[in-house]
Amino acid sequence: MVRNMSNIEDREQKKYAPIGVFDSGVGGLTVAREIMRQMPHEKIVYFGDTARVPYGSKSKETVTKFSRQIVRFLQTQNVKAIVVACNTASAVALDEIEQEIDIPMIGVVKPGAKVAARTTRNGKIGVIGTESTIGSQVYSHYIKEIHPDAEVIGKACPLFVPLVEEGLLQDPVTDEIATRYLSELIDIDIDTLILGCTHYPLIRSTVGRIIGDKVTLVNPAYETAIELRNLLEQENLLNDREPRLGENQYSFYVSDAADRFKRFANAILKYGILSAKNVNIEEY
Ligand code: DGL
Repeated sequence: MVRNMSNIEDREQKKYAPIGVFDSGVGGLTVAREIMRQMPHEKIVYFGDTARVPYGSKSKETVTKFSRQIVRFLQTQNVKAIVVACNTASAVALDEIEQEIDIPMIGVVKPGAKVAARTTRNGKIGVIGTESTIGSQVYSHYIKEIHPDAEVIGKACPLFVPLVEEGLLQDPVTDEIATRYLSELIDIDIDTLILGCTHYPLIRSTVGRIIGDKVTLVNPAYETAIELRNLLEQENLLNDREPRLGENQYSFYVSDAADRFKRFANAILKYGILSAKNVNIEEY
């Protein structure tokens, strides 16, 4: 009986624990931003693996090993749920790691696939992402679970990540590269395009202009935040308390170059971040 009471109390307290969000670097801030917008009461502990980015050109084994270390770190921060904001890690590592832990975990691929499958009218869906994400064909797998007849065409766009990190969001160079990458998707008449990489929402207007207004762009971050909310509600883990005055609602950790991370974060988040701490992630 006493034990049950304390379980209930633990559960109540757990509501106020932070959500862990991780990515290979800065890109996952587009997902954190969406969670902040949709769930303004929630606390977030963000980890960006800035020392080992990019994940998009690494093997499944390496990305799984890195992701496992980050999950261990986030567990030391007593998070109540983990969001894998990185498309590559969601595509190649999430299935394995979620079996190993007892806190809910959610990635960005399934939610993105679900919206795309529901959005398409002609059944032709394009997916752009890193080489690993596209090579894994995971988007196609989840889309076909919902829409078996869909034709899913993947296109790796490896230069988009460095262009975004260089801040070339509206630039003729980005236009030129995007035109080359997207031309084959235009030729096959897709009507829906998944922005299957954390960085791509930041060049959404360039991609949208080049692919044309007949194509609906899907940003998995938006749907991921909705699914996270549903998950927390189901598990009775949704934080219903206003953040207290002076409370540190958001914490940021990186594996390298905290100042660079801070600059990038302050350029894309509404909320100004004061500090990002370095963590030796190899220790986890
Ligand atoms: N965060 C990665 C993704 O969404 C992009 C950057 C990288 O290659 O690590 O796939």
